[in-house]
Amino acid sequence: MDPNSVNLIWQADGSPRSARFDDPYFSTSGGRAESEHVFLAGNGLPQRFAKGFQIAELGFGTGLNMLVAWQAWRKARASGPLRYTGFEAYPLTQDELRKTLSAWPELAMLAVPLIDAWPCQKLNLPGLVLELVFGDARTTLPTWRGKADAWFLDGFSPNKNPEMWAENLMAEVARHTALQGSFATYTAAGYVRRSLAETGFEVSRIKGFGRKRHMSIGRMPAKLKLATSSHEL
Ligand SMILES: C[S@@+](CC[C@H](N)C(=O)[O-])C[C@H]1O[C@@H](n2cnc3c(N)ncnc32)[C@H](O)[C@@H]1O
Repeated sequence: MDPNSVNLIWQADGSPRSARFDDPYFSTSGGRAESEHVFLAGNGLPQRFAKGFQIAELGFGTGLNMLVAWQAWRKARASGPLRYTGFEAYPLTQDELRKTLSAWPELAMLAVPLIDAWPCQKLNLPGLVLELVFGDARTTLPTWRGKADAWFLDGFSPNKNPEMWAENLMAEVARHTALQGSFATYTAAGYVRRSLAETGFEVSRIKGFGRKRHMSIGRMPAKLKLATSSHEL
């Protein structure tokens, strides 16, 4: 297999699956509804949208989560553009992107300029400043200069794509999170929750999307906790 090829497999329902990771890009039973449940609601969005809001995503994939967030931003009539940064190691081809996103005609108005410009590193569109950082997130995130108000943690499942959930990478997520910033992810894997909790997030397990029993969310406290007794110093 060409090491740079995503090598997509199209499933019977027309949705893409990664041959490299043997995992689907999104839930085949409602990718868009999953995105709204896990990544928007999980991060308290659209309610938390505010001027200058920054979302960052590990695993930009097809751009579906970004389009859903941008559409929600436009509907919320939030002030100024949404800032969105996507980290992606194995970008889809333009044709793969076009074919995947054609499943949501209601997103076409937003999807077309992304597809036309693909692959791009910066894109300014009405209500959106998009930054795409291509490469392995374990290398690219440490050098990113931003801080996210909300993280979408959307690697493939931890048993198939463990590098996207590695302890060091979760520490970088925390280091690149604004105070009171948040994360949401579809996984409830115990080791992922524990490493995010160790970095300072207040982590909870909540109801997952569809048939998934649980997912995880977390919030960075307003102030970093100080040790309260001499034993903790
Ligand atoms: C579940 S898919 C993401 C779906 C995407 N959020 C969407 O809206 O379509 C996981 C993504 O993580 C990417 N990925 C896997 N390992 C990576 C790594 N080490 N660094 C950056 N991206 C990676 C994959 O190429 C894939 O696009």
